[in-house]
Amino acid sequence: MANTTIIDGKAKAAELSESITAATTALVEKRGVKPGLSVVIVGEDPASQVYVRNKKRTAEACGFNSVQHTLAADSSQEQVLALIQQLNADPTVHGILVQLPLPAQLNEQEITQSILPDKDVDGFHFQNIGMLTAGHIDGAFVPCTPAGCMLMIEDQLGKDLSGLNAVIIGRSNIVGKPMASLLLKANATVTICHSRTKDLPSVARNADILVAAVGRPQMVKGDWIKPGAIVIDVGINRIQVDVDGEIKNRLVGDVDFEEAVKVAGAITPVPGGVGPMTIALLMLNTLRSAERSAS
Ligand code: GUN
Repeated sequence: MANTTIIDGKAKAAELSESITAATTALVEKRGVKPGLSVVIVGEDPASQVYVRNKKRTAEACGFNSVQHTLAADSSQEQVLALIQQLNADPTVHGILVQLPLPAQLNEQEITQSILPDKDVDGFHFQNIGMLTAGHIDGAFVPCTPAGCMLMIEDQLGKDLSGLNAVIIGRSNIVGKPMASLLLKANATVTICHSRTKDLPSVARNADILVAAVGRPQMVKGDWIKPGAIVIDVGINRIQVDVDGEIKNRLVGDVDFEEAVKVAGAITPVPGGVGPMTIALLMLNTLRSAERSAS
């Protein structure tokens, strides 16, 4: 396809952050409430540290109070739960995020479910998942990655996706399942694929909207894509490539971009597509939480 749109997630996220900053200034001036985001990280996973640093930087740029709590890798379940109880009770904290994955000795589900639903800006609490699944999107915190993907899809296709086939590759609780709820709410016909799906390429070829969220570098090939489809690449994979005899690290998505860009109508790049939007949506969720607490 000659006129493929490369969706600029970075630019859209910057626009969103600007409007969040303006709304934050108004909230501080009119109500004396400054949005507070607490990010909890356990251990020293290098990728998680990069994500957490980016979240803190963006939160500060938006005018939020941003506090990072770094716990030792060998922290006990009780220590993590005690910190969350303290943040739950703190009225200056509007959003709590526990960076995943957690070290193996910790019970991830018990920890994510211990966050007050009203401060669960990740949208992982069963109450928020239930609201989203039931179609009560306005009352729920929607997980940031699918919410960001949805805004980019709306930009291309509008809010009503009636008659369009959406195919999601990946059935995670963080992306695949909430993405399906959002697309369904927008009237798309939704298929969720996973590792046990038979003939994945032919299912993918039916998609007007293809969302790849599996964590396998460059798995989705050009001939999996319906000409003109919108392709949302959620993957962030680090691979090593040989550049003129030199081994270099490269960030790639779950989609083979070079192939896909020739077929798709619109596509998100990696980096610069979904990633910045995820962070912007975290800020939006935190602002909403602060606004709710002030009303
Ligand atoms: N790890 C990878 N993605 C996410 C996310 O969206 N939220 C949290 N808390 N951890 C993550």
